[in-house]
Amino acid sequence: MRIVLLGPPGAGKGTQAVKIAQAYGLAHVSTGDIFRKNLREKTALGKLAQSYMDKGQLVPDDVTISMVEDRLAQEDCAKGFLLDGFPRTLAQAKAFDDKMNVDMVIEIEVPDELLVTRMSGRRMCKCGATYHVSMLAGKTTCEKCGSALYQRDDDHEATVKKRLDVYHRETEPLVAHYAAQGVLVTIDGTQGIDKVFADIQAVLGDARK
Ligand code: AP5
Ligand code: MG
Ligand code: ZN
Repeated sequence: MRIVLLGPPGAGKGTQAVKIAQAYGLAHVSTGDIFRKNLREKTALGKLAQSYMDKGQLVPDDVTISMVEDRLAQEDCAKGFLLDGFPRTLAQAKAFDDKMNVDMVIEIEVPDELLVTRMSGRRMCKCGATYHVSMLAGKTTCEKCGSALYQRDDDHEATVKKRLDVYHRETEPLVAHYAAQGVLVTIDGTQGIDKVFADIQAVLGDARK
């Protein structure tokens, strides 16, 4: 099964991706996570990506597309994958269409007002877990692996607003692109995390391959 998760920054793509990947045995491919890993490891790709991410801009298409192609060629993706954060421009979507079909594109819809609150309270772990301060009760370490939680550099209010602008301009056109292909499903992302996941499971049904 090949799934794309679409939605604005803070919609809950990463939160749901971890659950879906586990439940359906898919590889979770998050372009944001790959860029952040490169940034931590100070690779050339990380340095290049950082200059865009810090400003809330997109990393250039050619760099992103070839990075995703390399990732999808790895063995764990053969069983199926879940793309989180890619494609996010029409050029990326078209390059991807040329390579393969997707089974379903799940759009998680959340209005901008809610997104700012979600992102400014987000705390991350390097293991991929995502939290919100409202659910941490003051805890500063990850309940899955014990590592210290951190705030993303691009989660400050000015950058968040910029990312939302970029989403509406560059990524939202993909909703119509995938609707025209008949693979788009829209989920109400304003609901609680478990309800959003239940709605996603309902559309995915028992598909486990
Ligand atoms: P990326 O890391 O992909 O960030 P994003 O798309 O901006 O999305 P986020 O990760 O911010 O949000 P999310 O939807 O995953 O929400 P989350 O689950 O964390 O990209 C970062 C940057 O990398 C980009 O700006 C760009 O520079 C670059 N980049 C990445 N991909 C690229 C590409 N393809 N092309 C070019 N550049 C690219 O949830 C958010 C918060 O809300 C958390 O605190 C969470 O606990 C909480 N929450 C989640 N769901 C719920 C719920 N249902 N109810 C209440 N709270 C919730
Ligand atoms: Mg994410
Ligand atoms: Zn962790």
